[in-house]
Amino acid sequence: MKKIQLVDLQAQYADIREELDPVITEVIENTAFIGGKYVQQFEKSFASYCGAEHCIAVSNGTDAIFLALAALGIGTGHEVITVPNTFIATTEAITRTGAIFRFVDIDPFTRTMDIKALENAINSRTKAILPVHLYGHPADMDAINEIAKIHDLFVIEDAAQAHGAYYKGKRIGSIGKATCFSFYPGKNLGAFGDAGAVVTNDSKFAENVIRLRNHGRLTKYEHSIEGYNHRCDGLQAAILDTKLRHLDDWTAKRRAHAKRYNELFAGISQIKTPGEREEVEAVYHLYVIEVPNRDAVLAELNNNNIGAGVHYPVPLHLQPAYAALNLPVGSFPETEHSAKNILSLPLFPELTEEQIQYVAKAVIQAVQR
Ligand SMILES: Cc1ncc(COP(=O)(O)O)c(C=O)c1O
Repeated sequence: MKKIQLVDLQAQYADIREELDPVITEVIENTAFIGGKYVQQFEKSFASYCGAEHCIAVSNGTDAIFLALAALGIGTGHEVITVPNTFIATTEAITRTGAIFRFVDIDPFTRTMDIKALENAINSRTKAILPVHLYGHPADMDAINEIAKIHDLFVIEDAAQAHGAYYKGKRIGSIGKATCFSFYPGKNLGAFGDAGAVVTNDSKFAENVIRLRNHGRLTKYEHSIEGYNHRCDGLQAAILDTKLRHLDDWTAKRRAHAKRYNELFAGISQIKTPGEREEVEAVYHLYVIEVPNRDAVLAELNNNNIGAGVHYPVPLHLQPAYAALNLPVGSFPETEHSAKNILSLPLFPELTEEQIQYVAKAVIQAVQR
């Protein structure tokens, strides 16, 4: 069997290159490289896809989170509550505003923010809550929004892995004040380089993000404040707009593949398959199981030409970058348990039944050894 990648971007490009290549040529012929009509078109399409009023396309997902926080006035002296089982971009964006982050543990079923822990972490400096819809499973937004309302806090969602996911019948992006997406190439909706977006229903907030994205200006020569260069490229926007038409189909395939893995692993006591709360539709950016002896299983799969991985093996509070926080092993037991046992299996829309069966068989053999 040819190597089965964790994510096969070549398979996706092969499927839609006839649609994409002319679009790329068109952007180049129009020299619409930064901002401009292709960016505006994609912003309109993605806002509508999310069921939101505004989409502000930006340079990448990390900058989307940073700009959302900055546009809400979050900075020095403030605290933002988030989780330690995420990619470091989440906390980097908080630190960059001058605010500090406070970690809370996760719910072991959804691997998203634990609501009780969230309530206990709020103090007088808390200004915002930053849940992460990890692997494409939405966090419990009603509970989070209710707590935010009681304590007068902002909610900024990290939806870098959750394009198109539903929470109680609503698309992620349509629920809160600020939802931040990444379009990194391997994401469910991926560009051919870096790109990201902030999605919102709040016009004033949207204007603040637009201003900060482009050197503090809304018109060409007037800079009302100092901002940043966090604009989106025309090429990326045009590619994303074209790919967006396929996203629902790709998501349906991801969900079907996840269901198929679940069926093949049913009854294998050593394998814990991913949970999905009844009120959500997860989009399986990653299909993550838990197994004993994870590192040995991972090595065996890799030896069998299977591109399995771990997202993420070291929780943020145990990263050298955050050693100064002095959060020892044992600080966040659910996150630490997860980091030790999780295993991401190949999952992308173009995955075949034969490949799924090959992977599942190899996993079952490895865990039963
Ligand atoms: C959970 C999470 N947050 C933030 C980011 C940052 O996005 P980007 O790489 O586009 O800056 C990523 C992806 O890399 C991510 O997975």
